Amino acid sequence: MNTQEVTVKNSGATFTPPALANYLSDKILKSIDFASEKYTVLDPACGDGALLSSIAGKIENSFDFELKGYETNIDYLIEARNSLSAIIENNRFKIELQDFLEIAMQSDNDLFSENFSQEYADIVIANPPYVRTQILGAEKSQQIAKQYNLKGKIDLYFPFLIGMTNALKKGGILGVITSNRYLTTKSGAEIRNFLIENYDIIEVIDLGDTKLFDAAVLPAIFMGRKKAGKKQLSAPCHFIKIYEEFNPDKTCPVTKINDVYDILSKENSGLYATEDNRVFNYNVGLLKHSHIKTDIWQMTNDIENQWIEQIRKNTAFYIGDKFKVRVGIKSCADNVFLNENWDKEPILPEDTLLKPLISRENIQRWSCETANCLKVLYPHYSQNGKRAVYEISEYPKAEQYLNIHKKQLEAREYVIQAGRNWYEMWVPQNPAYWKFPKLVFPDISIEAQFSYDESGSIVNGNCYWIVAQTGQEKELLLLIQGIANSKLMAQYHDLCFNNKLYSGRRRYLSQYIEKYPVPDPTSPYSLEIIEIVKKLNAQKNNLQSLEEELNINVLNAFGFKD
Ligand SMILES: C[S@@+](CC[C@H](N)C(=O)[O-])C[C@H]1O[C@@H](n2cnc3c(N)ncnc32)[C@H](O)[C@@H]1O
Repeated sequence: MNTQEVTVKNSGATFTPPALANYLSDKILKSIDFASEKYTVLDPACGDGALLSSIAGKIENSFDFELKGYETNIDYLIEARNSLSAIIENNRFKIELQDFLEIAMQSDNDLFSENFSQEYADIVIANPPYVRTQILGAEKSQQIAKQYNLKGKIDLYFPFLIGMTNALKKGGILGVITSNRYLTTKSGAEIRNFLIENYDIIEVIDLGDTKLFDAAVLPAIFMGRKKAGKKQLSAPCHFIKIYEEFNPDKTCPVTKINDVYDILSKENSGLYATEDNRVFNYNVGLLKHSHIKTDIWQMTNDIENQWIEQIRKNTAFYIGDKFKVRVGIKSCADNVFLNENWDKEPILPEDTLLKPLISRENIQRWSCETANCLKVLYPHYSQNGKRAVYEISEYPKAEQYLNIHKKQLEAREYVIQAGRNWYEMWVPQNPAYWKFPKLVFPDISIEAQFSYDESGSIVNGNCYWIVAQTGQEKELLLLIQGIANSKLMAQYHDLCFNNKLYSGRRRYLSQYIEKYPVPDPTSPYSLEIIEIVKKLNAQKNNLQSLEEELNINVLNAFGFKD
C-alpha cells in the first residue's frame, strides 16, 4: 500500500461521484416540507466538497442558504473551498479544519436522552468516513465509544450519525451515505435503534453491488426527518434494494435501460439490464423495522412477505433453537500454526499435535476434501469435556518449533493478557466436539456449501460448524444440510438477511444460520430429504437430478406445491 492509500484507508476518504451526489441532493430537496428564512446545510466530513457543491448548485437560485463543512485533511479542505468559491459567494460557506466528532459533542448532553444540544442545521448531507475501529486503534476507538455511549464493535460512521443528529434541527432532513452493513448485522443493532428513535425514516436505499462508487464496502443511503420526540415509532418506510443478478431466471422479463440511475428512478421491482450488459435485480417496498434489537431491517415486498410467512407457519424450529453454530479456530498466527507440508519444516512437531484442518477451499456443496488439507499444530485437548492445553515441554519437537516463533506468538497480547500460555490458539474452540459428526460451511461463498464431515477434523476460522452429539441429532443435521443447501433457503437467506458482497458472494454468518427455519422432522418430506442428502453426501457425480428432487421435497416440507 502506498502512503496515499494508507491515508485513504485510515481516514475513510472515498469521495462521492457527482452523479451520486446529485441523486442524494435531489432526494433531500424533495423531502423538505418546512420553510426556513435561511437554510443551513451541514456536511460534517466534507472532503473535496462534492456533496455541498451539488446541493448548492441546486438551491442557489431558489433559497437563501449557508453551507457548513468540517474536514480534518487540509488538502481536501482547500479543494472544497476552491470548488465552492467557483460556484457561490464566499460568505455563503464556511469550511473548518476540525474533527467533527470532537465538536459534535461539546455539551454535557447525553445523546440518547430526549434533548439535543446543538440543533442548528436544517439539512445534513453526508458521506462520513467508513473506518473500522480496529484501524482507528484501541485508544481512539475506546475514547469515541465512551464519548458517544456506544458498545460492541463500532464503525466510525456510527458516532458520525449520532453527532449529525445532534446538529440537526427537529424536523430537519438527514440524507447520508454509509456502508449498508448496519442494516443487517448484529453490531448495527444499536445504531438501527438510534435511527428509529430519532427519525421518521423517509427511505432506505441499499445500493448493493452497483459500484456507483469506488468504496470497499457496499453503500446504502439513509433518508430521515428528525422527530420532535422519541416516543412514536417510525412508520414502515419506502425502501429500494438493487443487486447485480449473475444468474437471472430465464423465465423472468428483463427491461432494457440506460444505467443504474435510471433503474433507481423506477417505481416497480423487476430485472433491469443496463447498456453495459449488467442485469440488476431491483426491489422496492416497505421497510420493516422494529424496536427488537436483534431484528434487522428487512427489505421485502408484500408477495415476498407472504412467502416468508408461509415458511414460518411450516417451521418446527429454527436451527439456533437446537444447535449452536460455531466459528472455526483462530490462531492469529496462521503462518506458525497452519501448514500444508509439515515434512518440509526443519523441525517436525509430534504427530499428536498435528491435526487435519478443514478450510474454506476444501469445501464443496456436499463434500469436504480432508485427505490433502492443511494440518494445524493444535496444542489443545479435551479433559472431562473441557478444553485443556498440553504442557509443551512434554512435546520437545513442538516446543522447539514454537520457540522459533516465540516472539511473534507472545506479541498476541489478548492471549497473554487472558492469562493463557504463549503457544495457545487465540480461539481454540472446545476440542471435545471435533470427534462428532458435523456440518461445515464457509463464511463467504456464492452458493450455500453445507458439507457433512465425520473425519474428526478441526475447522478453520473462515468456516462455521454445527455438531451433532447423538444419533437423533445426526438425522436432524442431515435434514438441516438438505434445507440449507436448497434453492428455497438461498432465496430465504437473501430476503431475510440481505447480506451480499461484491460478485454475488453471500455471507453465511452464525447469526443468520441460527435463524434458518427447519420443517417438522417427522414429516414424510423431511424423511425423504434426509434420504436424498445421504445419497448426495455419498455420491461424487451426477448430483443434479438428486438436487432437483431435494428442492421439490424442501418446497413440499414448507407447504408449497411443486
Ligand atoms: C468518505 S469521505 C467523503 C467526503 C465528502 N463528504 C464526499 O462525499 O465526497 C470522508 C471524509 O471525512 C474526512 N474525515 C475523516 N474523519 C473526520 C473527522 N473526524 N471530522 C471531519 N472530517 C473527517 C476524511 O478526510 C474524508 O475527506
